[in-house]
Amino acid sequence: MSDKATLILDGKTYELPIIEGTEGEKAIDISKLFKETGYITFDPGYVNTGSCTSAITYMDGKNGILRYRGIPIEQLAEHSTFVETSYLLIHGELPTPDELSHFSSLLNDHSLVHEDMKAFFSNYPRGAHPMGILSSMVNALRAFYPEVPERSHEEEIDLTVARLLSKLRTLAAMSYKISRGHLVIYPSHELGYCANFLNMMFDSPVKPYVIDYDVVRALEVFWIISADHEQNCSTSAVRHVGSARVNLYASISAGISALWGPLHGGANQEVVEMLERIKNSGGDPRPFIERAKDKEDPFRLMGFGHRVYKTYDPRVPIIKKMVDRILEKLERTDPLLEIAQNLEEAAVNDPYFIEHDLYPNVDFYSGILLRAMDIPVNMFPVMFAIGRLPGWISQWKESMDDPNQKLCRPRQVYTGPTNRDYIPRDKRISRSKR
Ligand code: SDX
Repeated sequence: MSDKATLILDGKTYELPIIEGTEGEKAIDISKLFKETGYITFDPGYVNTGSCTSAITYMDGKNGILRYRGIPIEQLAEHSTFVETSYLLIHGELPTPDELSHFSSLLNDHSLVHEDMKAFFSNYPRGAHPMGILSSMVNALRAFYPEVPERSHEEEIDLTVARLLSKLRTLAAMSYKISRGHLVIYPSHELGYCANFLNMMFDSPVKPYVIDYDVVRALEVFWIISADHEQNCSTSAVRHVGSARVNLYASISAGISALWGPLHGGANQEVVEMLERIKNSGGDPRPFIERAKDKEDPFRLMGFGHRVYKTYDPRVPIIKKMVDRILEKLERTDPLLEIAQNLEEAAVNDPYFIEHDLYPNVDFYSGILLRAMDIPVNMFPVMFAIGRLPGWISQWKESMDDPNQKLCRPRQVYTGPTNRDYIPRDKRISRSKR
């Protein structure tokens, strides 16, 4: 393999270094291109651009591989817990039993939020989307938990990490309870991370929530497979905002906002709403598939397609297994599951989807799993955010520690008006008369 790329520009020859990752991924290093050639590159949406090197998550889009710190997602979903996987992503290694116990008790100790935050919720418009509330509340955490000069930078970061991991989950459950006018349920030191969330969501003084540990395991696995995904849109937002050296809370708040988008983490809510529309129109998915293929129609098949995976998203079979397991345990059926399976069958065998390498992604079945847990549909993106938080944190920490990381400030190719003079107000012609 050559270690340089040759570029010929305006009769001059330039050699650009090639860098190779531990899994054989190759990249042309253009970090000196503008300085040496006066040219920038042009790559809308960064389809062909690597923004950093990273040792956290490896994705192989051709073969449908996903590993956290080298460990296959399938093994973590089978054997790990969400707290343990969070530790692995953030610290780079699986924790010893003592390290895990210390980490878990740290999360427990920081699971409450400042009582004054309730005033934020009560003054938030009732119909606000939980992702907008969550993004605001996470930014507000910084005001309640400012940096303490006596603490070292490392201590400050470790404390902020524990606060975020624990309080984001509490804030999410609070937003649900308050949106329904129900009593806020506090975290319990007797429950683990995932069981605590479900209890905070569904417990009530008049109807105590009975914890089903199969449901808890399904939630745990959903959060494990959601925990990181290399440089996706929201993680790139966290790194981008963090590159200005703003605090971790503000960087995570930016990640939540990016994940909210229907093309990204908001797709899990869009998928279920799309499946409901298919059900209400008689259950035949074909008209929706035809719309998705029509270039004149902005409609997209939500939960299908991926920037990296050009085969099945490896998270899909794990989620599908949990859907089957939880529906069987709860002795429930979901009409949307059959519609989703019919839609998947029709789409993956359609020439357009085959030619475009469009397969179901993580969001296609995750909504059905969350419905089975009685999570309300507008909370689906919030559930994704809680799962993705350890990934965002690990990526933010890695970028802060990366000696090659600079302020993220891309350039552009300017296509506006060339140089022209200011026109005095009395000399201007209104646009309608031009
Ligand atoms: C997540 O990046 C990550 O890792 C994200 C994520 C994570 O864990 O962080 O995996 C989570 O966000 C999953 C994706 C959730 N979004 C959706 O399900 C929304 C529907 N999917 C698409 O909008 C789309 O597939 C994207 C946004 C996910 C990816 O789009 P790209 O890579 O920008 O590709 P594109 O929009 O340029 O599409 C390429 C072609 C186009 O056709 P042509 O113009 O080339 O003929 O594929 C078509 C698109 O029209 N296409 C679709 C389609 N997705 C792509 N056509 C119909 N339905 C779709 N869903």
